Amino acid sequence: MEALIAVLPGDGIGPEVARAGSAVLQAVADKFGHKFELVESAIGGDAIDQHNDPLPKDTIAKCRDSNAVLLGAVGGPKWSDPNAEVRPEQGLLRLRAELEVFANLRPIQIHPALVGASPLRPELLQNVDMIVVRELTGGIYFGEKTRDENSASDLCVYHTHEIERIVRVAANLAAQRKNRLCSVDKANVLETSRLWRAVTAQVVTEEFTEIDLEVLLVDAAAMHLLSRPADFDVIVTENMFGDILTDEASMLAGSLGMLPSASIGSGTRGLYEPIHGSAPDIAGRGIANPCGTIASAALLLRHSLGLDDEAIAIEDALAKLIENGARTADIATPNEKTLTTDEMTASLLQILN
Ligand code: IPM
Ligand code: MG
Repeated sequence: MEALIAVLPGDGIGPEVARAGSAVLQAVADKFGHKFELVESAIGGDAIDQHNDPLPKDTIAKCRDSNAVLLGAVGGPKWSDPNAEVRPEQGLLRLRAELEVFANLRPIQIHPALVGASPLRPELLQNVDMIVVRELTGGIYFGEKTRDENSASDLCVYHTHEIERIVRVAANLAAQRKNRLCSVDKANVLETSRLWRAVTAQVVTEEFTEIDLEVLLVDAAAMHLLSRPADFDVIVTENMFGDILTDEASMLAGSLGMLPSASIGSGTRGLYEPIHGSAPDIAGRGIANPCGTIASAALLLRHSLGLDDEAIAIEDALAKLIENGARTADIATPNEKTLTTDEMTASLLQILN
């Protein structure tokens, strides 16, 4: 098949991992006889430097024209002056809103060979396999903000239809897995969470009678993720809670650098990015872990292009790579040999081909 893929490298380690993701997509195209055209454009701090806009019109147009978008990361100290009017992160948030990718899927699986890379005890990690469905285009990230000399506010708003559609995505996933859905909120304090809880219960009881719904407060969920991670199957939650809980959950997998994400809406076009940030501390050193981005490229093939065999080929190659002992610094134990981003990617390509 032919496909147009927009690649947005962004900032920090973004370009380093995006290059790895692009190389893997090209390799898959060659191996399976597809034609992927990869078109790069600017986002985040890089776009502020070039166009004084974290999401230039041209970038939006290229993303709209494409079948899918692969993104590295945005942000960095250069643009994080607290008084700055434009910030790199605004580019990413606007892109998510523009593309209407309201459902952010963050699968958390543990490679058996990386159990030692997690700070948790190995026995807790057995059978951990969950997916967090994070609402991505609403809530406190997108509400009105105010600031004066002595106060500041961020408004959190959720509409019934936004909750219904994200719960349907999560429940449909649960129906293909273990029929277990856990909704996370803060209904003892937040009005938005009380609406969230009521709407979730209604959608599940009316449309997904076979699904077993569990409800947790976010503070308790943060604890349960570490005390009984294997009990979770599909978790659905609002934008900010999903952001926080998935960084926490990444420690089950050993490193933030391992985890991919897929942001999808009502059509097939999606936005794919590793869940990690731009990691300014290691940027430019060529040592970033490309696995999260490469796994995101696999999700892109599956969800936006319908190429399941190709996605599985990448996922199998990633599993093999780790099994073979290939390690970037973030997942290496003190005595293990570490590979650079490019070496890790080259080893993966060798397995893939
Ligand atoms: C993520 C990131 C972003 C978010 C930042 C960079 C705005 O942390 O994708 O998880 O908070 O959504
Ligand atoms: Mg985050």
